[in-house]
Amino acid sequence: MDAIETLMSRNSVPARLLREPAPEGRELEEILETGMRAPDHAALRPWRFLIIRGEARNKLGDILADAMALNDATISEERLESQRKKPLRSPLIIAIYADVTENHPKAPEIEQIITAGAAAQNIINAAHAKGYGGIMLTGPLAHDAHVKGALGLAKKDQIICFLYLGTPSEEPRTKPRPPVTYFISEWTGDIRKAKAAG
Ligand SMILES: Cc1cc2nc3c(=O)[nH]c(=O)nc-3n(C[C@H](O)[C@H](O)[C@H](O)COP(=O)(O)O)c2cc1C
Repeated sequence: MDAIETLMSRNSVPARLLREPAPEGRELEEILETGMRAPDHAALRPWRFLIIRGEARNKLGDILADAMALNDATISEERLESQRKKPLRSPLIIAIYADVTENHPKAPEIEQIITAGAAAQNIINAAHAKGYGGIMLTGPLAHDAHVKGALGLAKKDQIICFLYLGTPSEEPRTKPRPPVTYFISEWTGDIRKAKAAG
């Protein structure tokens, strides 16, 4: 597959369809190295890749359920149990986050977060190029203080996604994608009025 073919053939794979084997060892490192090719203002290298697999997925499930319960004391045990099981859907999860440098003179926080997001995109494409499947998931708990703390992140850090990875058990559904022309326009120099808020 050439590079364009790789980019154009990637579809996210639902986590429940991701099975063993997941990438590991040198192959996993190669996949993560592509994240380090993300554009990176001021060379801060804000990307971080936290690998979660095996028994640690159970622990992540506990943390997510605890956070849910802390946020809503009336939540049912059934919903907590369902949350607890979510990380077990696939063999490997990489929590990709931005280790944010606050008040940087050149690279505002949003740019550092974009860099970590671009790293995540390279990684999901590299995994696809090697025959694996993946999906970026967050949900509101990715930005929860209890979850971030338990994973060792500082308050300032931003989780980009939990990237679920594995081998697809079936071909993922291709979603309809509108033609790119829908999103393209050209600015020819005319000064536009700012859009009204809302
Ligand atoms: C940062 C990020 C977080 C996401 N979180 C979720 C999520 O929590 N739940 C979900 O159903 N999709 C989530 N998505 C969307 C899926 O990852 C995926 O992009 C979507 O299902 C469309 O599939 P596609 O990538 O094949 O176009 C997220 C995407 C991004 C970029």
